[in-house]
Amino acid sequence: MSDLTRREALFVAGACACCAMSVDLAQADEGDQPKRQAPAALPKSVQIGKTADFAKPGFYDKFAKQKLMVANIGDKLVAMTVVCTHKGCAVKPNPANPEGLKCPCHKAEFDVKGMPTHGPARSPLDRFALTQGADGVITVDMTKSFIESKWEDPASFIALKPADAAK
Ligand code: FES
Repeated sequence: MSDLTRREALFVAGACACCAMSVDLAQADEGDQPKRQAPAALPKSVQIGKTADFAKPGFYDKFAKQKLMVANIGDKLVAMTVVCTHKGCAVKPNPANPEGLKCPCHKAEFDVKGMPTHGPARSPLDRFALTQGADGVITVDMTKSFIESKWEDPASFIALKPADAAK
């Protein structure tokens, strides 16, 4: 498991090529005063609620400001980064596909599991570690991430039972 992935570090640093260009242009227009604020660092952990809060399959984007997208993928609850695997823009729910994400920068698309379905992105979105307390509250540990080959690691998801929808 890695700490902050390179893509996330680039995202935090605002290293998307198109964003960097806009900063440079802004500086050229207005002297040496950059227009953009430095992005806030990613939180180390986020409490997202209980499984019943995610009863319907699909994405829950209420944690997008924390660079986090929660998804009920049927039998599992997962939390994935919003950092696009192409050049690091923030992906958003796809208005044309409620079970998909779309990147506003170059139109890459991802399915509900975080797999790329339309270029230019070719790699899946990394997932974060999840733990569930005795009270049922789920915490996303954003210091631990899982690439696709590690998605079967039990630390990368919360197993969902049909009864979770009734809680
Ligand atoms: S940054 Fe290029 S498609 Fe997302």
